[in-house]
Amino acid sequence: MFYENYIAENKAWIDEMVAKLDKKLSRVAVESRDKLPYTTDANGKHDNCLDPATGKNVTWWTNGFWGGLMWLMYEKTGNEEYKKTAERSEELLDGYLANFQSLDHDSGFMEHILAGANYRLTGNEKSKNRNLYCAAALASRYNLSGGFIRAWNWEAGLTIIDTMMNLPQLYWASSITGDTRFKKIAMAHADMAMVEHIRPDGSVVHICSHDIEDGHVIETRQGQGYAVGSTWSRGASWAVYGFVLSYLHTGKQEYLEASKKAAHYFITGCATNGWLPPVDFRAPEEPVCYDSTAGAITACGLIELAKVLPEYEKPMYLKAAFEILKAMEKEFCNWEDSTDYILGMGTEAYGRKVHVPIIYGDYFFAEAILKLAGSEFNPW
Ligand code: GLY
Repeated sequence: MFYENYIAENKAWIDEMVAKLDKKLSRVAVESRDKLPYTTDANGKHDNCLDPATGKNVTWWTNGFWGGLMWLMYEKTGNEEYKKTAERSEELLDGYLANFQSLDHDSGFMEHILAGANYRLTGNEKSKNRNLYCAAALASRYNLSGGFIRAWNWEAGLTIIDTMMNLPQLYWASSITGDTRFKKIAMAHADMAMVEHIRPDGSVVHICSHDIEDGHVIETRQGQGYAVGSTWSRGASWAVYGFVLSYLHTGKQEYLEASKKAAHYFITGCATNGWLPPVDFRAPEEPVCYDSTAGAITACGLIELAKVLPEYEKPMYLKAAFEILKAMEKEFCNWEDSTDYILGMGTEAYGRKVHVPIIYGDYFFAEAILKLAGSEFNPW
């Protein structure tokens, strides 16, 4: 029983991480209750995407992560302060739902881990309604003749690897309504992404531009990585975790293989870099640039792979998850009482907002630790 034994060997570290997460987040949960944080100021205090001074508003794609993190911590600890902050986030995000034109491929990031988590944990009917509304909007983005879910709201033919993480909202909608159209749309998109977004060597394409009539790929684009043809590490992490999630929801073996393939590329690129994820696996060595968020997201995917793969396949994935998490904890985490964030050194895009705390870095770091601590609740 490799998985259970390895977890037992690392129990002291896992327990220490859970205790540190709870100590810090139980304070910040109260102090940042009315915020929708994205990053922090120079003193490490949360910003607020509702603040007009930041130029951002409630529709920013990461606004579900703070409340989502609160649900993860509530599920683990039962502390009502986490629940109150998660509920407040959900209320604030009604400003996003009120503006239909602001909905896009990111509705799972926005609501599935927030309202969707609320419904799954508490049975709240209003939350179920919010998540169903988003699922319907997401399904409506499906291009019938092209066979893909459209990204963003400008050009109609763009797809991005990130969308893999929003498909669980569609799988969930099918399971609770009994209407299989949601699942079929999600699987059609995942089938497309396996072919067009995963290269034969396991590296990942961030953006494809498709012909909107027949779906063929006209060109690939740079997106948030270094260049066209490079490998943006967060895009790779969306593939590792996104495909294993599609496997968990559908049982389709090809999705498991796609997740493994992307994982192999990610693990190699990380292992040859001291287990700290660079922002792009195909970029010049200088300037040195990391993206901790990619490591945290991938760790979640690797843990899920280790859980479902046969006994002798498990070690590589679980050990790699621990290597990444431990290296990042040592080099990038901030456990001080005076700051609001935990995982530093996130990077929004190659050359843009480099080495800053990003809210979903904290979210996925906590999700990974809680998985290792035995949490059965999968928010996706
Ligand atoms: N989904 C956008 C990003 O990963 O930055």
